[in-house]
Amino acid sequence: MALRTIVQEGDAVLRKKTFAVEVFDAKLHELLDDMKDTMQHAEGAGLAAPQIGILRKIVVIQVEEGYFELINPKIIESTGEQVGPEGCLSIQGKYGIVARPQSVKVEYQDRYAKVQQLTAVDFFARAVCHELDHLDGILYIDKATELRIERKR
Ligand code: CO
Repeated sequence: MALRTIVQEGDAVLRKKTFAVEVFDAKLHELLDDMKDTMQHAEGAGLAAPQIGILRKIVVIQVEEGYFELINPKIIESTGEQVGPEGCLSIQGKYGIVARPQSVKVEYQDRYAKVQQLTAVDFFARAVCHELDHLDGILYIDKATELRIERKR
């Protein structure tokens, strides 16, 4: 296990297209473990592979509902709307106000390639949408209606 470097806004890798994971091997498991460590160390709610310079469709999410690894995820249903604050480990010192669905249903593969589904609501749904956007080269600042400077805590 190892901490990876989180790239920052301005790095072209955050804007690139990502590719599906096809091989579910020990190397993938090591990458997932590193992503989990890196996200937890940075105290984030989620991390997408492009944020550590890897152009694969992989995200990890840590929310109240638990820890999730989503590989090749797709939103297959979304309902409602929530408007609220959102930040990103690749955009330090800022947050924005972003509209997201209230609830999303996601189909994805787990680390063993098994197809799974989950339904996320509220903040969990926001985290899922934010992380999946990273897989399309989209950052929350592209969607935010307001951008604010985060006060030092
Ligand atoms: Co982000």
